[in-house]
Amino acid sequence: MKNLRSYIVPSVFAAFALSGCGNSDKTATAENPSLPLIAFAQANSQDPWRQVFDKDIKQEADKHSSEFSFTEQEAEDDPKKQIDEIETLMVKKPKVLLVSPVTEAAQKAIEDAHDAGAYVILLDRSIPGNKWDVYVGGDNYAIGKMAGEYMAKKLSGKGTVLMIRGIADAVPTKERGGGFMDALKAFPGITVIQGDDCGYQRAKAQTFMENFLQSKKPFDAVYAHNDEMAIGAYLAMSQANVPAKVIVGIDGCQKEVVQDIKDGKIAATFRYPQPGAPAVDIAADFLKGKKPSSNKVLLPTEMVTKETADKYLQEHPNLAD
Ligand code: FRU
Repeated sequence: MKNLRSYIVPSVFAAFALSGCGNSDKTATAENPSLPLIAFAQANSQDPWRQVFDKDIKQEADKHSSEFSFTEQEAEDDPKKQIDEIETLMVKKPKVLLVSPVTEAAQKAIEDAHDAGAYVILLDRSIPGNKWDVYVGGDNYAIGKMAGEYMAKKLSGKGTVLMIRGIADAVPTKERGGGFMDALKAFPGITVIQGDDCGYQRAKAQTFMENFLQSKKPFDAVYAHNDEMAIGAYLAMSQANVPAKVIVGIDGCQKEVVQDIKDGKIAATFRYPQPGAPAVDIAADFLKGKKPSSNKVLLPTEMVTKETADKYLQEHPNLAD
């Protein structure tokens, strides 16, 4: 089945798949009906943050190979595709459904899955309402607020910030924007220009910035809702020979962005913690009858600047290339 990237966890099959022997398609669709199923609907598997996410979640699932089998579908950031995929996954009657929603449009499909009896864990992007069991991920509002406070300090309380937004109707976009704006309420000397939704994508942010520069509107800084878009904005500005500006991103999952911070191209990023491994552990606990004490498992962030970049690289050796 297209984009069905399920794999059977028992290690003999996993080893077979990883060694590259045989037809990996056969292994990819194999499942073990005698084990409970954990199904994962991923928003996309294309961008660097999600590539680390996918790797992590599979590694963690492998550790529980005798307890459950695991299957994943990814939606290429297409909300409709994700709804179809959730419905397809539910036909397999998973005990646990993990979802990293593309947007809030997944709400109904998620609620139906919950009504059908799946234990629902949301990863990284939440949805409104309460028909789900646990959210695991970063605190996007808090990260937005920290980014706003950092920006205000860098601009000494005065200037214009261009905000490059993620995906409209994705909760992190709203929370990263909202936290940032709330932090700036204490700094009336700072104005924010609401830029476009650039889908968390580097190329879209680069094109947006190229066009924005044509408008000749003055600005002093860029707040991008993720690092890919921060890098895209930087590339457009450097190609247009625009003098350096304060650029702040979010994710901290790539060596490239840390190098850009060391080189002074980007001022700071905020680590957006990977939810895959903790979510799998919560799913495994659930199968053993244990539930977390809160329905929000918030993972910690940290700020990365020129001063802390080397330490960050040492502490996080597995960043994406
Ligand atoms: C990846 C991503 C990350 C971002 C997160 C927000 O798809 O765009 O860059 O931090 O999703 O949900």
